[in-house]
Amino acid sequence: MAELIPIDSALERALELLRGGEVIALPTETVYGLAGDATSGTGVARIFEAKGRPRFNPLIAHVSDWAMAERIGDFDLLSRKLAEAFWPGPLTIVVPLRVGSGIHPLVTAGLDTIALRMPKGFASTLIAALGHPIAAPSANSSGKISGTSADAVNRDLGAKIPLVVDGGQTPVGVESTIVKVENGRVRLLRPGGVAAEDIEAVAGAPVERGSGGRIEAPGMMTSHYAPAAAMRLNVDAVEPGEALLAFGPSRARGGARAVLNLSPTGDLREAAANLFSHLRQLDAVGAATIAVEPVPFHGLGEAINDRLARAAAPR
Ligand code: TXA
Ligand code: MG
Repeated sequence: MAELIPIDSALERALELLRGGEVIALPTETVYGLAGDATSGTGVARIFEAKGRPRFNPLIAHVSDWAMAERIGDFDLLSRKLAEAFWPGPLTIVVPLRVGSGIHPLVTAGLDTIALRMPKGFASTLIAALGHPIAAPSANSSGKISGTSADAVNRDLGAKIPLVVDGGQTPVGVESTIVKVENGRVRLLRPGGVAAEDIEAVAGAPVERGSGGRIEAPGMMTSHYAPAAAMRLNVDAVEPGEALLAFGPSRARGGARAVLNLSPTGDLREAAANLFSHLRQLDAVGAATIAVEPVPFHGLGEAINDRLARAAAPR
């Protein structure tokens, strides 16, 4: 297992490891990240190794301030407006990569664009202290459920990394929303912690979905977030022996082997925050199938339904 240090006393050790080209797990407001110095070839290569991630799948570079973001990416007016509205926070913006950015080419997997995000809290403090951007995918083995607690991360990746910074449960619970501005329009590459409606309110126009057959976020392979159990979505009644991921007020849920409710009051923010930890816990009861009640598609429900569909996809 990795060393586990509480967030309040982890800064010096985290810095020392990153400067040495090591990777560490740390909390962000969305999910835990597997972090390395984005300008270090060793650091970035170790991220791909620890995660078992295909090298063609690019990483998000995390920055601590606007000046750092602008040294790396070339922001059009609309991208800048989105950054001003949602940073620091759970929004990732894909922009053209600047020449001389210092970002190691492994981060972008050879693309001429870069995914940038400005997180809050410990991650931001650490990036500022390091003075370099941090590359960080979600802290989970490739294809598995993203880690939203230090324990979950340590069980999944603890044998491969020296340190997990323990900041408790991450508040948002699903990964950042990824957008890219093209021809003056916002394309949604991945739904996430900022609702599409909120982006539309800032952009003053609908976001565009669907990629016309092109793979835009190369990591969004169909099967992802896969628990060991099979998944059955949008159920109205649980079959005997299934584990049940419920949503909303109480109703007849007899016969389930275990029941966890994403949000008894039907609050989509609470449901997003609970999604990955509830999936892990239900998976651990050993049922052959996890049945899932319907979750509405608006607000953070879009990201929740996206993750559930990927968790249920053929593997
Ligand atoms: O909330 C999050 O975004 C978390 C925390 C740790 O920041 N990170 C995260 O990273 O979810 P990851 O690697 O699991 O997902 C990043 C996604 C991948 O699907 C990747 O293909 C896509 O971003 N991506 C990265 N660079 C891209 C680019 N230049 N163009 C399009 N998609 C890109
Ligand atoms: Mg991920």
